[in-house]
Amino acid sequence: MLSLVGLGLWDEKDISIRGLEEVKKSDVVYAEFYTNVWHNSINNLEEMTGKKITILKRSDVESTKILGEAKTKNVCLLVSGDPLVATTHIDLILESRKQGIKTRIVHSSSIVSAVGETGLQLYKFGKTVTIPFPDKTGDVLPQSVYDSIKNNLSNGLHTLLLLDVDIENGKNLSVNDGLRILLKMDKEKLLDNKKLIVMSKTGSDEQKIFYDDIHELPKKQHELPAVIILPGKLHFQEEEFLESKE
Ligand SMILES: C[S@@+](CC[C@H](N)C(=O)[O-])C[C@H]1O[C@@H](n2cnc3c(N)ncnc32)[C@H](O)[C@@H]1O
Repeated sequence: MLSLVGLGLWDEKDISIRGLEEVKKSDVVYAEFYTNVWHNSINNLEEMTGKKITILKRSDVESTKILGEAKTKNVCLLVSGDPLVATTHIDLILESRKQGIKTRIVHSSSIVSAVGETGLQLYKFGKTVTIPFPDKTGDVLPQSVYDSIKNNLSNGLHTLLLLDVDIENGKNLSVNDGLRILLKMDKEKLLDNKKLIVMSKTGSDEQKIFYDDIHELPKKQHELPAVIILPGKLHFQEEEFLESKE
């Protein structure tokens, strides 16, 4: 059996009780953090569960080793956030099905639903995009990413923009680089005079949400991890919430 267990948004306190129980009854426990940062030491989780946890590289997760073991043992793979959000491990589930291995998903909190804390309605989000590292794309946003933003805007939908991350090489695109790349590709001036949201360190005690003009946002102090959100057509209550103070 293969279980994918979500660790949630921030640290070891975000795993669910169901997730903890799943880890405790597993024979082998792995974790992968190559597409998202997790904010605690694995030792704490080992103490909480009484299990040895092995951190896997991307190539290990994609190899057949895990599935080979899952044929005869209960194997658990810990994933930060919700296991099937953004880091799509659906290929692992599909391959398990083909090989007759039972699977189970234990969900947890995710950035995709936590953005509801901005007051934006989740049902009004269009396609999510990732702003890639500038050295991958010559400092411009790929046309497909720009087209998704344009499509969302023309349909009045909000856009969640994730910032590229490469944990294995210690890289995470900064908020200001993300904003700069957005402005640089915006030849049609779709973003001029637009107010965007930056939401950082979500789920932690240092979480911040800024809502401001795209030219003003770079002047703020942004930390990582973070997302940028481009609102589409705002309902008056969404707007009131965004402008309100705690
Ligand atoms: C590939 S996604 C992984 C999403 C994760 N599987 C989940 O369910 O939340 C990684 C990106 O999500 C965003 N992100 C992840 N955790 C975050 C947090 N706690 N606060 C703000 N943004 C976050 C960052 O833009 C980061 O580069």
